[in-house]
Amino acid sequence: MNKVSDSFILSNGVSIPCVGFGTWQIPDGDPVFSAVSSALETGYVHIDTAAAYGNEAGVGEAVRRYPGGRENVFVTSKLWNDVRGYRETLDAFDRTMERLGFSYLDLFLIHWPAPYRFRDRYQELNRETWRAFEELYRSGKVRAIGVSNFLRHHLEELMETAEIAPMVDQIEFHPGWMQTETVSFCQQNGIQVEAWSPLGSGKLLQEPKLHSIAEKYGKSPAQLCLRWILQKGILPLPKSVTKERILQNTQLFDFCISSEDVQIMDSLSCVGRTGSDPDNAKF
Ligand code: A2P
Repeated sequence: MNKVSDSFILSNGVSIPCVGFGTWQIPDGDPVFSAVSSALETGYVHIDTAAAYGNEAGVGEAVRRYPGGRENVFVTSKLWNDVRGYRETLDAFDRTMERLGFSYLDLFLIHWPAPYRFRDRYQELNRETWRAFEELYRSGKVRAIGVSNFLRHHLEELMETAEIAPMVDQIEFHPGWMQTETVSFCQQNGIQVEAWSPLGSGKLLQEPKLHSIAEKYGKSPAQLCLRWILQKGILPLPKSVTKERILQNTQLFDFCISSEDVQIMDSLSCVGRTGSDPDNAKF
């Protein structure tokens, strides 16, 4: 891969650009419109949003105005935890599409496996929800379907009855939080892993070991983390509202981290984790 628009290929043959622009915590309206527009100008052609981020309208507007054409941008959204079940999911998808102003979506994900309010019967509800995802996929309204924050056991439970296996699992992944069991399961089963919080929400960037390795390659700690993720076959979704950083986070293809340095980065333990345990989240 030589640039952010180069692709991984999903299990159904759909190409997914290898770095996505994350939009969590970017407010709707001008802030997200201008961040996504900057990202598109810089060369990103993959944008990640969610119903829960409350910014689908601004993301949709920026993508619809992209001079390169909406069909040349890969857009992901996610079903929030307040919705489960077949009919409810189809209705929630329509609301997402209305906010985005699109006629189709590239990737739709179940945002969390076991929402607090449905925890006592989440497996059964996920099966019904997934039936709706399969229907959206078969009807061509979505080009690919997947999940987010699913651990190995959630994936196994879903795949017991799924007719179409998830194509993506988007999880928290960065040096210091590698979720090895889930990643191995995904990679063995043709499920593309995506990394949210690839910079540990920025906190990880203070880590002295990362600074000294990054310096060797003449790169920033952020670039080092993103490159490390790509070298593992995982798709990073960095977020920034700062123009220079938006650009910096695309400059990942003119260096390669040596296996010794990868090992040092792999050995960082429990640094920068910000997300909840998917089985015990309070939402
Ligand atoms: P900002 O949005 O103010 O530019 P993550 O993608 O892991 O969630 O991390 C996002 C956080 O990391 C944001 O606070 C963002 O700040 C910051 N960030 C993004 N890119 C860089 C970078 N290249 N260097 C330093 N900080 C960055």
